[in-house]
Amino acid sequence: MTAPAHAERRAALMQALGERGVAIIPAAREQVRSRDTHYPFRQDSDFHYLTGFPEPEAIAVLCPGREEGAFVLFVRPRNAEREIWDGRRAGPEGAMARYGADQAHALDALETELPKLLAGRETLHYTLGEHAALDGLVTRTLRQLREVARRGAQAPARVQALESTLHELRLIKSADEIEIMALAGRISAEAHVRAMQVTRPGRNEWEVAAEIERHFLAHRMVPGYTSIVGGGENACILHYTENNQPLRGGDLLLIDAGGELDGYTADITRTFPVNGRYSGPQRALYDVVLAANRAAIDTLRAGVSVGRPHEVASHILAEGLIDLGLCQGTADGVIESGELRRYYMHGTGHWLGLDVHDVGRYRTAEGAYRNFVPGMVMTVEPGLYIAPGSAGVDAAFHGIGIRIEDDVVVTDGAPRVLTEGVPKAPAAIEALMAAQ
Ligand code: GLY
Ligand code: MN
Ligand code: MN
Repeated sequence: MTAPAHAERRAALMQALGERGVAIIPAAREQVRSRDTHYPFRQDSDFHYLTGFPEPEAIAVLCPGREEGAFVLFVRPRNAEREIWDGRRAGPEGAMARYGADQAHALDALETELPKLLAGRETLHYTLGEHAALDGLVTRTLRQLREVARRGAQAPARVQALESTLHELRLIKSADEIEIMALAGRISAEAHVRAMQVTRPGRNEWEVAAEIERHFLAHRMVPGYTSIVGGGENACILHYTENNQPLRGGDLLLIDAGGELDGYTADITRTFPVNGRYSGPQRALYDVVLAANRAAIDTLRAGVSVGRPHEVASHILAEGLIDLGLCQGTADGVIESGELRRYYMHGTGHWLGLDVHDVGRYRTAEGAYRNFVPGMVMTVEPGLYIAPGSAGVDAAFHGIGIRIEDDVVVTDGAPRVLTEGVPKAPAAIEALMAAQ
């Protein structure tokens, strides 16, 4: 993403805030992993979206219409010694020269500058409860401004979270964002193809995970979430991340993994046979999930309800379970009674973007699902999970877990699938694995 893109986003947010609003958006902070070492740093998604500034601890303040400039950044000061140990810092000068801040200060100026930035504004847009230290400073500042307000100035009367403003902007992706997500989808799909190529009985789940993550790293990507590589009944644990069991011929392998590029993540699941051939019962369930995946993808069209993919997928899964003798009655009955949840206990998709479970509302203020509009990106991920030892179920199905997940853009026309680079049709997967 280029600096003009960040400037455009700040302008759009400030338009939403109005002249009497002000917003505070903090960067992520370093998290201790053990003693004096840290987890790999990852910038906060809101902060990254608005600034592109890559360092920890910074604070952005946006003050629409402010004479001295609307975009104020507080950043770590330059420090020769710390830069030898921890890496380069932009400092206030770099924040202005390279990141478009109208004004920049060292972080220790926040306490004295913040009251000036908030005074006279009506609404403070700030998500309380995420950053204890900053919450303390913000509430002290508000209190201090109210004291002064009795003598004529004005303190913000309202504090509002950023969901209805910034997160609604993030929900609709620009053409540039979609191209980054398309690339993340393509490279992540390649990683899943590699996984199919290296999987065989006797290999361990972690070896397959390593192949996938090697492909991400080789393309300057990192996993956008912890990879799930679950052989056999491990696929029935939805967030299985131990990834440490040997793979057995005759089992399926479920892989849910996506790489993150410039902050935007892919989210792909494929489920394929360890020995390269689906068994009869595996194939029967797989075909049901695949039909649900394809039909649900087709609903991602402008004007259609956001709840529609789940309705369509649930119906096909329920009918499939009835056909295979795992459920009885009608599809509507199986859904309404909650019986389907025994085998399908999660939703059919979620917004995707800078966060894997991205921001943006699914429903209107009245509680109804909203409709799709072009630029929304959603996953479509139906699955069926037949727990080991499921009472009343043919043992041939026990321990089979299947999910098929793609990333889909809503356009003016047909849905655009970003993750087609990895096959999902059984014949195509078997052909790919046979070619090894
Ligand atoms: N990988 C997490 C999810 O599919 O939602
Ligand atoms: Mn997902
Ligand atoms: Mn996933």
